[in-house]
Amino acid sequence: MRSHQAGALHADIGTKGPAWLREPADPNALVPLLWPVTARKTYEGALVVGGVDLRDLARDHGTPAYVLDEEDFRRRARAFREAFADYDVYYAAKAFICTTVARWVAEEGLNIDVCSGGELTVALRAGIEPARIGFHGNNKSVVELRRALEVGVGRIIVDSFDEIDRLLALTAETGAEAPLMVRVTAGVEAHTHEYIATAHEDQKFGFSITSGDAFEAVRRIEAAPGLRLLGLHSHIGSQIFDTSGFEVAARRVLALHARVSDELGVVMPELDLGGGFGIAYTTQDDPSDPSQLAVELTKIVEHEARALEVDVPRLSIEPGRAIVGPAMCTLYEVGTVKEVRLDAGASRTYVSVDGGMSDNIRTALYDADYSATLASRRSDAAPVLARVVGKHCEAGDIVVRDEFLPGDVRPGDLLAVPGTGAYCRSMASNYNHLLRPPVVAVRDGVATVVVRRETEDDLLGTDVGR
Ligand code: LLP
Repeated sequence: MRSHQAGALHADIGTKGPAWLREPADPNALVPLLWPVTARKTYEGALVVGGVDLRDLARDHGTPAYVLDEEDFRRRARAFREAFADYDVYYAAKAFICTTVARWVAEEGLNIDVCSGGELTVALRAGIEPARIGFHGNNKSVVELRRALEVGVGRIIVDSFDEIDRLLALTAETGAEAPLMVRVTAGVEAHTHEYIATAHEDQKFGFSITSGDAFEAVRRIEAAPGLRLLGLHSHIGSQIFDTSGFEVAARRVLALHARVSDELGVVMPELDLGGGFGIAYTTQDDPSDPSQLAVELTKIVEHEARALEVDVPRLSIEPGRAIVGPAMCTLYEVGTVKEVRLDAGASRTYVSVDGGMSDNIRTALYDADYSATLASRRSDAAPVLARVVGKHCEAGDIVVRDEFLPGDVRPGDLLAVPGTGAYCRSMASNYNHLLRPPVVAVRDGVATVVVRRETEDDLLGTDVGR
């Protein structure tokens, strides 16, 4: 890469921020849609979640910390359970899992989808009935598959012919029967970031419907002793707001379901529509609630099934983000505040916090937008457009690209970022040898560490030296 003089284009100048971001009348106020249901500000401006003053939480448990509102999590889980009463609802563990959360999921009547041996271990350690676990992944190892069969998971979602061969060998060897779903790509491009859209053709997941691979996978499974065919599985992407993608996917997947019935004489009992339901990260987002989603998805499937003259199979969905995303916020302490002068007399306020891309990679990886609020005090200072950045040695280490914060934001302040429950702790790293933050569950005024902060001993535990 050639170096050049950075000019105006580099600065994305504008002290007004992106078009969607409005300067708030009161930067102390919370936007309820973005926060856990129990979140509120005290008169002094302290953020309270689950009845716990986050100033106390920071004092007792340190920062950064993920704060998990149990009440909010359970409500969202229950809302899916109740709205999708005729479906099986699988909580997608990849969004976030620990044994406590796995237990909450089971207590609220949901099943769990895991996509690695590690996630399977957490679910089993939490005492989840194996029959209520679905096992995903595009490259499950023989060891993982053997274990899944041994413990008796309820379904394995197969993703390749190699995997079918592995399962044939394993079932022949062990005498176990494998209950299988076939992951198909419906050729739908959901309106989301390219890295998280999964059902268009040119990507690694699933069997293509158009190429005939999906039908062939079904045929092989159906013909094989030891393999039990449950049905088709389609997941079209993540952070989706618009059900039109599900409509196109349902049409194509049900057409395959009908073809299998016509040509093979096999009525598959189940159909999974995947997850991907969007949440509000900022005021730009307008998510549907589970009851709206249930009505729309059911209508779509019933309509397509009627048109194809097939019975509606037992349906399932796999929400992750929509359950855990809004239930958590991340609490940081401000370390430095820097006014960076840009061209044309403009400037930007850089607020550095004590975490960053190691506890939330989504901003850097997907250009994700977040918001933030001052969590430790009330301020009457006029709002300034700020950029919240981390402490990593990388310019792209941004947590919140644009947010209005009180103009007197200063070192020692606490900042909270909402909507960090999904794909933040679960994608956290030790970049720059930072310690991954704890997850502190809050409820009825009590804070409980459910995942502890890493220690330097944890870091050095794998560094065996020589
Ligand atoms: N089912 C399957 C088969 C999936 O692959 C996923 C997500 C889900 C369900 C759950 O999707 P959700 O409801 O949570 O959107 N790291 C990215 C998202 C990757 C999603 C991977 N699969 C992000 O941070 O946006």
